[in-house]
Amino acid sequence: MSQFNIANHIPLADLQKKSTPFYYYDLDVLNMTLDAIKRETAGLPYLVHYAIKANGNPRILREIAQSGMGADLVSGGEITAALEAGFNPQSMNFSGVGKTDREIRLGLEKGIGCFNVESIPELEVINTLATEMDKMAPIAIRVNPDIDAHTHKYITTGTVENKFGISIEELETVVNQAISLPHIHLRGLHFHIGSQITVMPPYVMLCETINRLVEHFESRGIHFEFINVGGGLGIDYQHPDEHMIPDFKEYFDVFKQHLRLMPSQQLHFELGRAIVGQCGSLISRVVFVKENREKKFVILDAGMTDLIRPALYDAYHQVQNLSAAQGDLETYDIVGPVCESTDVFAHDRKLPTTHRGDLIAILSAGAYGESMASRYNMRELPGCAFGKSC
Ligand code: LLP
Repeated sequence: MSQFNIANHIPLADLQKKSTPFYYYDLDVLNMTLDAIKRETAGLPYLVHYAIKANGNPRILREIAQSGMGADLVSGGEITAALEAGFNPQSMNFSGVGKTDREIRLGLEKGIGCFNVESIPELEVINTLATEMDKMAPIAIRVNPDIDAHTHKYITTGTVENKFGISIEELETVVNQAISLPHIHLRGLHFHIGSQITVMPPYVMLCETINRLVEHFESRGIHFEFINVGGGLGIDYQHPDEHMIPDFKEYFDVFKQHLRLMPSQQLHFELGRAIVGQCGSLISRVVFVKENREKKFVILDAGMTDLIRPALYDAYHQVQNLSAAQGDLETYDIVGPVCESTDVFAHDRKLPTTHRGDLIAILSAGAYGESMASRYNMRELPGCAFGKSC
C-alpha cells in the first residue's frame, strides 16, 4: 500500500475552533480496516466480533454494526450500547469474570448469542437465573490455555497466573457440569491470550492447543458449534503511516493453516484494537512550553484522563505538531496538566519548535483511548469529531 500520512489528513482548518482536547476519528480509515477484514474472511466460516471495550463511541459502533460484525461485550452498559448501535443480539458475546445477576438477566432477556463463562460459580448462577426466566442460556466456556503471548504484563490474559478462564485440567469437569445443567446450552469454547500481540507464534500455539481439546471432546461425542479464539492482534504504534491497516492476511492465515475446524464448526474472533486503533487521534492544544535546566516541556490541555495508555502501560504513541509540521527539531517531554508525575505522553520526543496554542495530534489512539477516559481532577471528558480522508 502506498504510504498514507494520517496526520496530514486531519482537517485542521475545520477543527481550529473546536474546543480541545477531543478525539478525531477518520471514518475512511475505519471503513478501509473493516473492508480488509471482510476481504480476508470472505467465504470462510469465520465471524468477527468487535470488542466494544476498545471504543464504544456510538458513531464508531454504528459503522462497525453496519459492516455486519458481531459484538464482544463485557458489561450491561456495553450490551445496551451494542443494541442501540444496531448489532444483532444473536451475534453478541458476553465475556468477563464478574458478570452481575442484573447483567446476566439483561443478556438473557435480550437474547444474546453467548455468555463466555469463566468459572463454575458463574455457570451455576447463569443456570439459576435462566431457570427463573424460563430460558436456555447459550454459553461457551472460557479456557485459559496457559500460553504466554509475550505482550505487556498488564494485558496478557492467557497464562495460569491470571484471573481469566478455566484451566485445561478443570475443563473436563466444567464441560460435564455444563452439559448436565438443564438451562445451559453449551455451544462453544472460548480463548483469549492477550492484547497487542504482534507476532504469530502464540496464535499457532493456541491453534495446537485447541486442536487437541476439540479432538478429545469429539471423541467423547461432544461437538462444539464454534470455537472463539478471542482477539489481541496488535497494531504498529511506532509506524502508523506504514501500517495503517494491520496485516489481517497474516493473522487469519495462521488459523486457516493451523486450526482444524470440524465440519459445520464456526470460528469466532473478538478483535478490538486492530479494528479501531489507527482511525483515532487525540487532538489537543499546547497550553505552555516550559523550560528548566534539564528539559523542555510541552504542556498540553490533554492529559492521562483523556488517554491513559502511556501513564498506565508506558505505551508509545506517535506525537505530531499539526500547526508546525516542519522546522528545526527540538527535544521535548510532552506532558499533560494532571497532578500526577506519570501524566506524561512522551519523553525526549523530537518535534518542530513548538509554541503555545499549537495543535498536537497523538496518533493510534482509537483503541482504549476514549473508552478509558476518566474525570479524575474533575476534568471534562474529551469530545469527539469525525472526518473522511479519502
Ligand atoms: N476478548 C477478550 C476476552 C478481551 O479481554 C479483550 C481485551 C479482547 C477480546 C479484545 O482485545 P484486542 O483485540 O483489543 O487486543 N487497555 C489495554 C488493552 C486491554 C485489553 C483487554 N481485553 C490497552 O490499552 O492496551
